[in-house]
Amino acid sequence: MTNEVDVRPWIRDGAVHGAVYREPSVFEAEMSRIFRRTWVYVGHESEVASVGDYRTKKIGAEPVIVARGEDGVLRVLLNRCKHRAASVCQARAGNAKSFRCQYHGWTYRNTGRLVAVPYPDSYPEDLTESVHLDSLPRVETYEGLVFASFNPSVPPLRDYLGDEACAYISQFMNYSLSRRLVAAPEAHQVMVESNWKLQMENGLDGYHAVSTHRSFYSIMQQRMGQPVRQNINSDTARSRALGNGHSVLDPGAQDTAPLRARIAALPNGTKLVARVVELEGDNAQPLIDAVTGPGLNIGIFPNLQLIGIHIREIDPISVDRTVVTVRPLLLAEGPAELNALRMRYHELSYGPAGFVQPDDLEAFVRVREGLDATEDDWLSFRRGMTDEEHGVGASRSGRTTDEVPQRGQYRAWLELMVDDRPAR
Ligand code: FES
Ligand SMILES: [Fe+2]
Repeated sequence: MTNEVDVRPWIRDGAVHGAVYREPSVFEAEMSRIFRRTWVYVGHESEVASVGDYRTKKIGAEPVIVARGEDGVLRVLLNRCKHRAASVCQARAGNAKSFRCQYHGWTYRNTGRLVAVPYPDSYPEDLTESVHLDSLPRVETYEGLVFASFNPSVPPLRDYLGDEACAYISQFMNYSLSRRLVAAPEAHQVMVESNWKLQMENGLDGYHAVSTHRSFYSIMQQRMGQPVRQNINSDTARSRALGNGHSVLDPGAQDTAPLRARIAALPNGTKLVARVVELEGDNAQPLIDAVTGPGLNIGIFPNLQLIGIHIREIDPISVDRTVVTVRPLLLAEGPAELNALRMRYHELSYGPAGFVQPDDLEAFVRVREGLDATEDDWLSFRRGMTDEEHGVGASRSGRTTDEVPQRGQYRAWLELMVDDRPAR
């Protein structure tokens, strides 16, 4: 059984061995010890708001359907027919009363209950009463974010997240005055040829921006006609590990002036801003300031990041393949011009043709290439290690360019990978 791989020799304080990114046996162990054992993000409630709404995704390697049944209950069903294992739903998202297996035609309600089979006479009469699509035993939400777990004895989601991560998530998910935010129905997805942990590390990496994203800063500087101030480098900014692998880059106080300049420099920016002012009067400026989000990068271990104004899901496919889904948050009700501003701001950095995400993806591919040189097979995460500040419980903090978040992520990773007790 490959789950028996012992990863302890591959983790040192502030260093991770290349095998952790390369070894298929490590990947398989991660799927069972992390992705089948703790809480995994599966979507935002607004994606499955109405009875019959569903979306398909994977938890680790396993295909699931996140479905709101006819009884209004949100379930996470395994996308595998109880007859001979065909997947029963192929669409990425939709609304359906039932899922009909294409192979022999078994049909399941959106609650997972089997309701019809062709030529039922050769089966016992109670077949449809006794067969359900398997469903995950635990589904819980926090601030509209839906998490599920294969582990029936996983502690409550709120405990897993902890007070500090909960507070940051609340700040992020409510950052639009009192307007309700919902997940955009469409997202963009990228298949990256690299290990999933590179995305996990990178979303909380305050050290790489100046070099990886140099072209973004120079283009913004040209557009705005002034140097781009990075909140992330201000004196108030901190990187934090929050326990259980969760982490944050917190800019502290945000300076709104450079953000306003960025909004004005967006395509159609000044026109859209003028229209919002016309429609919203005194409310307009705070709403416009909220377009860029709270400036937090939040990482919820193992597969969720909240960055800019978007929700980012990390889906591991194999040891060197990962799907990253980027889904912006929009206002549930108008004005449409505000959502247009939000989208233009989002696209500038994180859209498929944005200036930020493609550079990160290129970095992952280069790490993947470099990992083939194994003479000195260690990756260093020592930046800021000696003056890391210890807070309450597992909490640690440092300068924003320190590798505090990554060390926190690997502490949680190691614990789950070597510990046989129920996941925390
Ligand atoms: S595999 Fe689904 S009905 Fe046969
Ligand atoms: Fe980046």
